[in-house]
Amino acid sequence: MTRHDTLLQWIEEVKLLCQPDNVRWCDGSQAEYDEMCALLVANGTFIKLNESKRPGSFLARSNPNDVARVEDRTYICSNRKVDAGPTNNWMAPAEMKATLRPLFSGCMKGRTMYVVPFCMGPLGSPFSVIGVEVTDSPYVVVSMKIMTRMGKTVLDQLGEGGEFVPCLHSVGKPLAPGEKDVPWPCSDTKYIVHFPEERAIWSYGSGYGGNALLGKKCLALRIASVKGRDEGWMAEHMLISGVESPDGRKTYVAAAFPSACGKTNFAMLVPPKAYEGWKVTTVGDDIAWLRPGSDGRLWATNPEAGYFGVAPGTSWTSNPNAMAACEKNTIFTNVALTDDGDVWWEGMTKELPAHLIDWQGKDWTPDCGRVSSHPNSRFTAPAYQCPTIDPEWERPEGVPIDAIIFGGRRATTMPLVFQAFNWVHGVFLGANMGSETTAAAAGAVGKVRRDPMAMLPFCGYNMGDYFAHWLGMRKRVKDLPRVFHVNWFRKDADGKFLWPGFSENMRVLEWVVKRCRGEGRGHETQLGWMPRYSEMTWRGMEEFGPAEFDKVMQVDPKELRHEILSAEELYIDLYDHLPKEMVFQRELLVGRF
Ligand code: GTP
Ligand code: SPV
Ligand code: MN
Repeated sequence: MTRHDTLLQWIEEVKLLCQPDNVRWCDGSQAEYDEMCALLVANGTFIKLNESKRPGSFLARSNPNDVARVEDRTYICSNRKVDAGPTNNWMAPAEMKATLRPLFSGCMKGRTMYVVPFCMGPLGSPFSVIGVEVTDSPYVVVSMKIMTRMGKTVLDQLGEGGEFVPCLHSVGKPLAPGEKDVPWPCSDTKYIVHFPEERAIWSYGSGYGGNALLGKKCLALRIASVKGRDEGWMAEHMLISGVESPDGRKTYVAAAFPSACGKTNFAMLVPPKAYEGWKVTTVGDDIAWLRPGSDGRLWATNPEAGYFGVAPGTSWTSNPNAMAACEKNTIFTNVALTDDGDVWWEGMTKELPAHLIDWQGKDWTPDCGRVSSHPNSRFTAPAYQCPTIDPEWERPEGVPIDAIIFGGRRATTMPLVFQAFNWVHGVFLGANMGSETTAAAAGAVGKVRRDPMAMLPFCGYNMGDYFAHWLGMRKRVKDLPRVFHVNWFRKDADGKFLWPGFSENMRVLEWVVKRCRGEGRGHETQLGWMPRYSEMTWRGMEEFGPAEFDKVMQVDPKELRHEILSAEELYIDLYDHLPKEMVFQRELLVGRF
């Protein structure tokens, strides 16, 4: 196992606190994975899918009260409140631990406590971060096997004195002697808690996604963002992809879109037919760690090893690469079960199945008036199963980034694409990002909120200091990426999308890449640099003429005025931590209008 004293001591403490019936150290082997899946089937958590249709795959249905991240239950417990900032929930570390200890006390009774050593980033990379998640959820164990490098190899890497982030997780449902377990144990009381100075995570009450797979949002974003601030790099909610033009040149881009706003789709983009010879490859679909390289460029790695992707809307038309990635060895959560033991969700096929079992285990027919899959239902699939996986996706130093793209889900106001004038202006664009809320988090859906750099739920420190850190990259990176803003989601008065999106986003991506290469033409506007209709490629999409283009690119001063005022709210909250560059940028913008 291990001779790591600090780790062994922590495991002993957790054992005493949580009082599990058994402790099991996970080795990460295929045999262990298969055994755990069989256990999950026996417990009723997993349904084995039809082996010939969906080999090695399972369906889980969660408790209806445990279907998404819980932002109002998520805390950044820094020593000082000001270091969490106004956009995070905060409690003093000692007070939070006093709150949590009684909850964790005896919380694993009747259950097995699994010790899951995992590595965010390739094993052996100097940039990777090791965590150890202790959990009473076998669903979490098998999910961590897909989403991270997990098991014995990680313990070997850790050695006897290596650093690790302790990640304590419980579903918060102890079992009395003889009590029968439920398929999806969880608690009504939920806490997702981060101690940034101590670099520790405590999560209680939920078994779902980012609440429970602690390597992802908790470690690789919230804790890593703090580490990055201290060490001079950045942990971001970004996809990473490579764009190869027919002449063989390759340009890597990173894009920050909020949760359920198209990162997976964009990361796996299939160029339209007219783009013969162009290729898009996938490095990551959710998280990017960005570091200044010794060559003066900004380098990106994907710390994850799998995709936890939104199912609804994913189809062989909209995202064939995601469909291929989840053809086998995949865990589906909260999608519908077909009569032949496969899965289905809204948007997978045009014709609706005549009968399904929905995500709550109820009969479903097309006329029943309900959706069959939860809007935040997801697939958990190994990254290497994506046909467009980039050959360099596990390279320790990552890939060099030439463009950073910000984008939100906006029915109005924001045009299809524009480019920032420079880095500081780009940081301003990211800081002002707005987006409609989605089903990825519990709460109201479709309300525009400020989501700076798509990091509102994931920044582990004061958002004003975070903007300052972004600005400070100027001094660390000589060849800074160009910065762009996109919006695939603009609608007309009837609520119809003005832009076809998906594959056709390649046309925007081509303009972005050409701008980075000093080839793409554009003109200066009040917002930034924009392409003219004639400066983009429309081969194969001729029905989209200059009139349609004008609609999707239009900037309405009235809407923009509202946008500036709404961003002001965040500025007021951040007041003394807001870098003055942001205020100057706003003044310049107002002046241009
Ligand atoms: P997280 O995993 O939650 O961080 O989200 P993500 O950004 O990876 O989201 P994902 O790519 O899974 O997007 C989910 C939703 O966006 C689905 O409903 C898609 O149909 C929709 N979507 C993706 N790309 C486009 C697009 O170009 N146009 C439109 N209209 N919708 C899109
Ligand atoms: C997101 O909400 O941004 C996700 C899904 O990527 S979860 O892992 O649940 O946070
Ligand atoms: Mn995400």
